[in-house]
Amino acid sequence: MYSPLLFFIVFHCIFLACAYSGWSNLNIIPRKTIQYEDNHVITFKEKGVWNYSTMLIREDLGLLVLGAREAVYALDINNISIAKSKVLWKVTEEKQKECTSKGKHPDIDCRNYVRMLHQMNDGVMYACGTNAFSPTCDFITYGDGQLKLEGKQEDGRGKCPFDPFQRSSSIMVDQDLYSATSLNFLGSEPVILRTSSSTLRTVFKSSWLNEPNFVYMDMVPESEDSPEGDDDKVYMFFSENAVEYDFYNKLVVSRVARVCKGDMGGQRTLQRKWTSFLKARLDCSVPEPSLPYIIQDVFHVRHKKWRKSVFYAVFTSQASSTDRSSAVCAYTVTDISEVFSRGKFKTEVTVEMSDVKWVMYNGELPVPRPGACINNAARSSGIMRSLDLPDKTLQFIRDRPLMDDAVRPITGKPLLLKKGPLLTRLIVDQVTASDGQSYPVMFVGTENGYVQKAVNYDGEIHIIEEVKLFENAEPIDVLRLHQNRLYAGSASGVVQMPVSNCSRYSSCLDCVLARDPYCAWESPAQRCSRVATSPENAESNLIQSLKNGDATRCPTTAPVEPKIRTLILGNNIRLLCHPDSNLAQVNWNFAGKPLLYSNRKYTIYNDAILIYNASIADAGLYTCTSVEWAKGRDYIQTLAIYDLREQSAVVVTDKMITTLGILPESNTPSSDLHKPEDPSLYLKNQSFESKWIVMQVTLAVLSVMMACLLIWNLYMGHISLFMCCGRQPLKSPRNVPEREYMHTENDAVDSKQQTVMLCLTTNSDLEAPSFHRNTTNGEMPTDVHIFKYITDESEI
Ligand SMILES: *[C@@H]1O[C@H](CO)[C@@H](O)[C@H](O)[C@H]1NC(C)=O
Ligand SMILES: *[C@@H]1O[C@H](CO)[C@@H](O)[C@H](O)[C@H]1NC(C)=O
Ligand SMILES: *[C@@H]1O[C@H](CO)[C@@H](O)[C@H](O)[C@H]1NC(C)=O
Ligand SMILES: *[C@@H]1O[C@H](CO)[C@@H](O)[C@H](O)[C@H]1NC(C)=O
Repeated sequence: MYSPLLFFIVFHCIFLACAYSGWSNLNIIPRKTIQYEDNHVITFKEKGVWNYSTMLIREDLGLLVLGAREAVYALDINNISIAKSKVLWKVTEEKQKECTSKGKHPDIDCRNYVRMLHQMNDGVMYACGTNAFSPTCDFITYGDGQLKLEGKQEDGRGKCPFDPFQRSSSIMVDQDLYSATSLNFLGSEPVILRTSSSTLRTVFKSSWLNEPNFVYMDMVPESEDSPEGDDDKVYMFFSENAVEYDFYNKLVVSRVARVCKGDMGGQRTLQRKWTSFLKARLDCSVPEPSLPYIIQDVFHVRHKKWRKSVFYAVFTSQASSTDRSSAVCAYTVTDISEVFSRGKFKTEVTVEMSDVKWVMYNGELPVPRPGACINNAARSSGIMRSLDLPDKTLQFIRDRPLMDDAVRPITGKPLLLKKGPLLTRLIVDQVTASDGQSYPVMFVGTENGYVQKAVNYDGEIHIIEEVKLFENAEPIDVLRLHQNRLYAGSASGVVQMPVSNCSRYSSCLDCVLARDPYCAWESPAQRCSRVATSPENAESNLIQSLKNGDATRCPTTAPVEPKIRTLILGNNIRLLCHPDSNLAQVNWNFAGKPLLYSNRKYTIYNDAILIYNASIADAGLYTCTSVEWAKGRDYIQTLAIYDLREQSAVVVTDKMITTLGILPESNTPSSDLHKPEDPSLYLKNQSFESKWIVMQVTLAVLSVMMACLLIWNLYMGHISLFMCCGRQPLKSPRNVPEREYMHTENDAVDSKQQTVMLCLTTNSDLEAPSFHRNTTNGEMPTDVHIFKYITDESEI
């Protein structure tokens, strides 16, 4: 049947496949989706209090100290629903008036947002808040189960932003506070400040900081085990407007910068300014040509040997770009420090009268090397402190803080790529699996209240699960990890959840195919449980296969008992079958023959089948099996068997069914069984018929439009035919039912993307979801599977 639907889908697919060909691998589907209702998280929120965005873990006190809007809480770290103490920190009426008179919103801007919490040596905490656009800091103590605000108000300018919507970052190192924020009311004067006996700050120049957005900061103890007698360093991560590119518009780039802990500023040049401030571009290139991705958050995975420490960073596409994608890249401290200690600098040159350009500096460098910490070599030439540095070195760094080289990620490409709702924050846990190896597990918060739990197994991106943490689709603003618990904060509240709940994996297959390093199948006990970190763990009893996803060691399961269902003539009947995994395909068999999607008699959903207008011919055995494909193997599982038996009685009451002993499954919609002569069913079917005609007409019109658009695009050279046909052949001939995968909570997934998912069902390339297209492959295979699928659709 050549329906307009066929044309529509063909044109739509070709068009979108061309537009998105490089991106199909980005649609990595989390293996499981845990809805909010199924997720037994512990929540803390208080009525009338918002913006739980600051957290400090006090292991010594067993507390999670939480900063919110106008309040600080001391929560029990084992169960955050227990608030041990609370202290209010409100703005004064006078301050609020002052703020309002400057044109700020009284209830949104002119409040005190607690944005910084640090622990000092004596256990006292140092906190800062925006305080109605007048940043203020104070000390907080915890004693006798009570939080107390000391009331020693300190000026918070340069430590905490004025504007609650502005990002900032800070850390406390040896009682010195390093902060990166803006210094003024307008937020136009950025600064990286150290508040200490020798207070230092950045130079107010656009070559130093150009409308930055600070996201993270941490110290690396590089003086440890350093043959050069190097200093400890503080690294900061931010995005800013690039000075080095010619671009029609402001171009935002991601940066890493660092300063030396022992920096004391210069004597004449760079007095009370950093003499060791160096910055470089952070590269996190996605396969598709695009504007540089922008850094949103960083997590420092510390290692006993600092050289092995790694910074994980989450990036998102620029606001101006049309697609919403995110990436996670990781950088070793060694690679970053190499760029700073050995890389070339960039320098400004004037071209054509007034225009300036930044190019690589090829001249000779002054000695000591600009931006270097004071090391043994410097000390041996009599330079003991940064105050002793020669003017030449200082002038160089004052004018050229930017490195020519960018810092490249480990393995040169992102560890995680994700389309759809943007990723906001991340945290990484190092998990020791049953093979004794350590695997980094990324927990990445999204803008719609989910956490994605992802791993990268030798270049293969695998999202173990996505967990909805908040009822509303709100961004995750802060993530912390402590003793196998994840804490997440948002505007509306805080949640605590275990890093893994192995009991959610119901079978050995489910447990092993999850490839979750926290969990393994215990064969004697027949359950999925936490991998104990103790070495005496008898590995032979545990089944886990992280890199290979090999579940062949799983014991065969007992056969599934058929469930009896009543067939009522003329009724629509729904049979449930829920697969363990979003990656599994569900197949239905009826009387030993596979039920086809193409049959209009049935609609097959991800978790059910609907049989329309049941007749006697529909009685029989329905078997639901799932096929999950992992690393080249098919795992077939029978999930349910239904025995559909004819029930000739026209009126069946609940009582009759009960007496017959055929109770419907609790989640089967009872209406299907109990109201055999529902006239609305026929009405529905008739209106369906007329809708079908309307739809076909609409599709015909759309097809013509799509065809025109395609021809126009080809004519204009926006897409080349070669590009369309040069797509890689499919590795897996599997119809992974992505079209059935409906992420209903993801309201941010645009319809366009859904369509791509529909069209490219066979292109999920699960075997190797790396994003390296094999361009050397000269063949031009046509994507037969797409067309096969389309043919199926056309027969609906
Ligand atoms: C783990 O999952 C099981 C099954 O869904 C649930 O009953 C249990 O409460 C969960 N445990 C935790 C700690 O969330
Ligand atoms: C946490 O504390 C609340 C309130 O005391 C209690 O109802 C709940 O059961 C506790 N949850 C856990 C997991 O201990
Ligand atoms: C604070 O929470 C409110 C309420 O959800 C939200 O609208 C607002 O954007 C948040 N403000 C900040 C600064 O995060
Ligand atoms: C249901 O099937 C019967 C025959 O089995 C047919 O007569 C009737 O028209 C069908 N009803 C609808 C609404 O399709």
